[in-house]
Amino acid sequence: MDDRKESQPLVLGIDIGTQGVKAGLVDMNGKVICTSSKDYPTSTPAPGWAEQDPLLWWEATVRALRGISQKNPSEIKRISGVGLSGQMHGSVVLDKNMRPLRPCILWCDQRTSAQCEEINKTLGKKELISYVSNPALPGFTAPKLLWIREHEPQLYGRISHLLLPKDFVNLMLTGNLVTDFSDASGTLLFDVKKKRWSSEVISGLALPESIFPPVIESTHVAGKVSADASLATGIPEGIPVAAGAADNAASAVGMGVINPESVAVSIGSSGTVLAPTKKPIVDPGMRIHSFCHAVPETWYLMGVMLSAGLSLRWFRDNLGEPEVTEAAQSGKDAYFFLDRTAESAPPGSGGLIFLPYLTGERTPHADPYARGVFFGIDLTKKRSHLVRSIMEGVAFGLKDSFILMSQLGVSPKLAVSGGGGSRSKIWKQIQADVFGFPITACSQSDTAMFGAALIGGVACGMSATIEEACKRSVSYTETIEPDKSLFERYEKNYRIFRELYPALKEIFRKSVEDS
Ligand code: XUL
Repeated sequence: MDDRKESQPLVLGIDIGTQGVKAGLVDMNGKVICTSSKDYPTSTPAPGWAEQDPLLWWEATVRALRGISQKNPSEIKRISGVGLSGQMHGSVVLDKNMRPLRPCILWCDQRTSAQCEEINKTLGKKELISYVSNPALPGFTAPKLLWIREHEPQLYGRISHLLLPKDFVNLMLTGNLVTDFSDASGTLLFDVKKKRWSSEVISGLALPESIFPPVIESTHVAGKVSADASLATGIPEGIPVAAGAADNAASAVGMGVINPESVAVSIGSSGTVLAPTKKPIVDPGMRIHSFCHAVPETWYLMGVMLSAGLSLRWFRDNLGEPEVTEAAQSGKDAYFFLDRTAESAPPGSGGLIFLPYLTGERTPHADPYARGVFFGIDLTKKRSHLVRSIMEGVAFGLKDSFILMSQLGVSPKLAVSGGGGSRSKIWKQIQADVFGFPITACSQSDTAMFGAALIGGVACGMSATIEEACKRSVSYTETIEPDKSLFERYEKNYRIFRELYPALKEIFRKSVEDS
């Protein structure tokens, strides 16, 4: 029995996140055998900008995989496939030798408002939506290419290839230039309904068609681990690597959210509410994205908050010294102590309300000028109120998406919590109470890495379909019921939360433009 177990195939999942890379080995039944993660920094060359060097992702991936291969020499031999997931929308531009020409402009970068206006003017707002099912937003890839063309014309002229972040790591692993439907969806250059690059948008914006890679299903094989990559990482040569998926799509797979019965509510750096659909649906109000899923013939609607986990991380890094110190002394995570701090404030944070717009916002207010706000500080407020109000403000932002989804006809039976934020019991309870809807917890919190592994498992034949992989591997630990007595308390705060953004909208713009 043990012998059989020890010869079972394993699959390697790799998630190229915003804060770092996470890799893990997963068996056929969804058991995570080991994980390794390595962080990398984000650079902010100007306020509102966010960049990362693609080679940092590769170096971190090499270190993470070396960590796994050195500690698990026998397991490494059992790897049958690799699956990748990654932060969406980033512009990886490569020269003819497939070398990065500049740092990647990330999904949360807000520099391209002017380019979005230019896209709308050139193509027409309505026409754009008919081509790609989504509006021009600063985080998407197309306006970034226009920004590079305008501000770095010489470099622009040397672009031979465009990739998304996880595709760059795939290139380093296999030598092949490929992307998948779910990640291509977030470029604003991809026809989500017809699942092909949009020649209308590409030629309308006078972009060179030759830079776009082939687009395949997430579960199709993009290539095999090369000799060079094997030498660098310790992963055996020749292992098939799946095209993989955008992190939100991969994460939904890792949470078993692959059909319209359920929605994924995730808190990573961003915060997302993702609802699978059986046909592409376009939000007439353009507040919800419409993208291809990692599951064939499936699409999804998604609301995106730009600073969800990022808001709490900002607090930890700038005001969280007591928790960081306790963490260093105890060997536990600082977020564990931040949970405790939040628990010591009352539900509703005594009326303190946090607007989580630290890096602007996308859903429901597509506004690069919006900023974070603590509203309602009085002499009774302590650090604990601040921490709790951040968790509540993020839950309010997610509720905005939840409500927009229901207006588009989404009525899920199940809401599954994922991402790093799902490790926090109190944050899950706050979400259930704010939504007035039960929240189901997964046995995995690294849902993007786990989903990437399930996708890799289909690519190498370990599972026939994503449905089969999810059935065998995804499990839920508990369902957190909403506390009805708190719902009204939160509704009061939510109503004020809803009034604050419109009241501040013009002031946000003025203050950012003046600074
Ligand atoms: C989705 C989005 C973010 C990133 C985070 O549209 O921009 O969720 O994918 O990695």
